[in-house]
Amino acid sequence: MTNLYKKIKVSASGSYEIIIGDGQLARLGEHVRPLLGDCRIAVLTDSNVDALYGDRILSILSASGYDVCKYVIPAGEASKSAENLLAFLDFLARNRFTRSDAIVAFGGGVVGDLGGLSASLYLRGVPYVQVPTTLLAAVDSSVGGKTAIDIPAGKNLVGAFYQPRLVCCDTQLMDTLPADIYRDGCAEVIKYGVILDAGLYASLQTPPFDRIETVARCVEIKRDVVQEDEFDNGKRGLLNFGHTFGHAIEKLSNFAVSHGAAVAKGMVIAAKVAPLCGLADVEKPLADLLSRYGFDLGCPYTAEQLYDVILSDKKRRGGRLTLVLPRSLGECELVAMPVEDVLSHLKAILP
Ligand code: GLY
Repeated sequence: MTNLYKKIKVSASGSYEIIIGDGQLARLGEHVRPLLGDCRIAVLTDSNVDALYGDRILSILSASGYDVCKYVIPAGEASKSAENLLAFLDFLARNRFTRSDAIVAFGGGVVGDLGGLSASLYLRGVPYVQVPTTLLAAVDSSVGGKTAIDIPAGKNLVGAFYQPRLVCCDTQLMDTLPADIYRDGCAEVIKYGVILDAGLYASLQTPPFDRIETVARCVEIKRDVVQEDEFDNGKRGLLNFGHTFGHAIEKLSNFAVSHGAAVAKGMVIAAKVAPLCGLADVEKPLADLLSRYGFDLGCPYTAEQLYDVILSDKKRRGGRLTLVLPRSLGECELVAMPVEDVLSHLKAILP
C-alpha cells in the first residue's frame, strides 16, 4: 500500500513535487532527505492534528536522522493571526534556527498558510514542506505557494507567494477527519470540476469519489493554473470561483460558517449571477450536486451586508471587481465589473 502513490511536478518560481498516496507520512523523512539534507526541522501543527499524529511525525523525522521540534497552535481559523505568526517566528529564533533549517507545516489550511508565511519571513526565507492533513489543504491551500494570515479587516489580507520544497499528502490521514471537515474539501473539489474540467465534474455525481485519483486530478488542475499565472494576475483568479461571496459569508459569520460551507454557498450565488451577465444558468444542477454532498446552500445575509465585506476583497482593483462566473459545468469566465454592479446583481438574486 505505502508504495502506491502519485507524483506531480510543479515548475513555478520554485520547482517541487507533490506526492499523493496512502501511507506517505511514513516516508516523509525519505522524501525530504534529498531536498533538505542535514538540518533541523520545526514542525508546525494544530491541537487536533497534534493529538492524533504529533508523536508519529516527530518519530518519523527523528528516525530519519532529523533534529526535530514542534510548535502547536490551537485548531481553528482564529489561529491564522499576526500574534501566532510572531510567536512562531520568535520560537524559531529562540531555538536558533538558521537559514539552512526547515519548517514542516503539518495540518490543514490554517497551519499551511501560517507555516508558509513564517517560512517566507524568517531570516528572509527558509525552506518549508507542506504535509496537508485535510482534503481542502490537499487540493488547494498546500499547492501553489499562497501563504497568509488574517487581519481584523479580512481573511488572507497579509501574505506572500512562497513555494514549498515539497508537498507530501498522505491520503490515509483523511480517514480520521470529522465529516464536516472532509465535506469542506469536497466544495473545493467540485469547484475544480466547474471551473476547468467537465470530466472531473461528471465523476463527482455519485459520492464518494475515489480519493487518490480525485486529489491528484485537482492538484494537476491547480498546478497547470499556477504554472501559467503564479502571481495571480489572470487565470489563477478562476480558482476563486465561489470565494468572493464565500469569504464574505465566512467573515460575516465570524468564521462560524466554515470555508468549504461558505464556498459552496458562494458558488451558488455566483451561478445565480451568471445569467444576469449573459452567461449560462447552471444553478440548479450545481445546487443539486452540492446538496448531494450535504451542503446547506442558504445565504443568511443581505446583499448590502455581503457587498460591504466584498469592498475589502483583495481582488478589487480600484472601483472594479472580477467575478468568476460559470459558462457551463466545466468552464468559467473571469468577468470584471464596477463594484456597484456587484451590489445590484446581489440585490436581484438575494431575497
Ligand atoms: N486558493 C486559490 C489560489 O491558490 O490561488
